[in-house]
Amino acid sequence: MTGPDRGYRPGMPLTRALDGATVVITGASSGIGAATAYALARRGADVVLAARTEEALHRVAGRCRELGGRAVAVPTDVTDPEAVRRLAARAAAEFGRIDAWINNAAVTAVGLFDEIPVEEFRRVVAVNLLGTVYGTKAALPWLDAAGGGVLVNNASVLAEVAMPYQSAYNATKHGIRGLADTVRQELRVTGRGNISICTVLPTSIDTPFFRHAANHSGRELTPPPPVYPPEVVAETIVRLLRRPRREAYAGGAARLLGLQWRLAPALVERVLGWYTTRTQFGPGVALDSTGNVFRPDAEAARSGGWHGRRRQLIRMTAAFGLAAAGTAVGTLAAMTRRARAEQ
Ligand SMILES: NC(=O)c1ccc[n+]([C@@H]2O[C@H](COP(=O)([O-])OP(=O)(O)OC[C@H]3O[C@@H](n4cnc5c(N)ncnc54)[C@H](OP(=O)(O)O)[C@@H]3O)[C@@H](O)[C@H]2O)c1
Repeated sequence: MTGPDRGYRPGMPLTRALDGATVVITGASSGIGAATAYALARRGADVVLAARTEEALHRVAGRCRELGGRAVAVPTDVTDPEAVRRLAARAAAEFGRIDAWINNAAVTAVGLFDEIPVEEFRRVVAVNLLGTVYGTKAALPWLDAAGGGVLVNNASVLAEVAMPYQSAYNATKHGIRGLADTVRQELRVTGRGNISICTVLPTSIDTPFFRHAANHSGRELTPPPPVYPPEVVAETIVRLLRRPRREAYAGGAARLLGLQWRLAPALVERVLGWYTTRTQFGPGVALDSTGNVFRPDAEAARSGGWHGRRRQLIRMTAAFGLAAAGTAVGTLAAMTRRARAEQ
């Protein structure tokens, strides 16, 4: 933005500029969280970075400063509500207020529902769903005090559709969407409509997420293609901060899946079950592991590196195209049958 409106003023809805706005990001030590921090720093925002791995947070904070933003790293485990409250207080103490909060931290445990240990299932719920609850509780009073602001929950297209071997993750992401819809209603009916609650629904993203996952499948994990760079989600979040909307897909495949799911849920459930069973596992075997579910993973790289595996991804992306086309034909057939039956 140029001209006299340039710059963020307290209480101003984040519909124009981000420079000078204070944004808290959880899960900022790698992947989408780090990419979002960079996107915001480039626009001059002050970012408060939270995750468990202190060293990685400092690396991300340093890069944010190089890009033009102010940044602080606040090591935080989002399963601890007191720590999340302290994170909010630290952000406000550092930059004077909080204008936006991004609940982004998450973990997953991959395996059949029967094979995922109860303790691990509980921990996935604690990080993904309760972490979002604690973040929202900590953020709202500060967003209110700032005269309004934006809270973004990074969910997944798996908040709308489902895929096998991801029961704990799917359940938490569906829960995050329901939580957001309810809190949004409550804010409106209690006269706090100047706080926006947004849900992001990304498809497969090129981050270390699948390398970080707890794995009980016995097989090497890969993200089902097509796989998009983390910057796609980061830019979606930036757009939401500037112009809040209830929900936004990130990645064209997420939009397509969401549309197909709404038109023909039973058919898409079958096709997606078939497709993801074939594409979320690589050719290699893997030992049982708890990944980063209980403790951070020492390897906190920003990119998942999946784009490097071109041949496999091209083959699987072609399979996605076939599955999508098949589903479209099936959806049309189901809609035609329904229309005829109603005549
Ligand atoms: N990658 C995908 O295909 C994809 C698709 C749709 C949605 N998403 C969503 O995008 C978000 C970011 O995931 P990503 O792909 O960027 O994966 P990632 O690189 O593994 O990032 C996960 C982040 O969460 C942090 N985290 C994990 N447990 C935590 C805890 N207890 N307390 C605080 N921070 C914790 C991790 O840092 P520490 O280990 O240092 O704590 C890391 O910074 C997640 O909500 C995920 O569900 C990802």
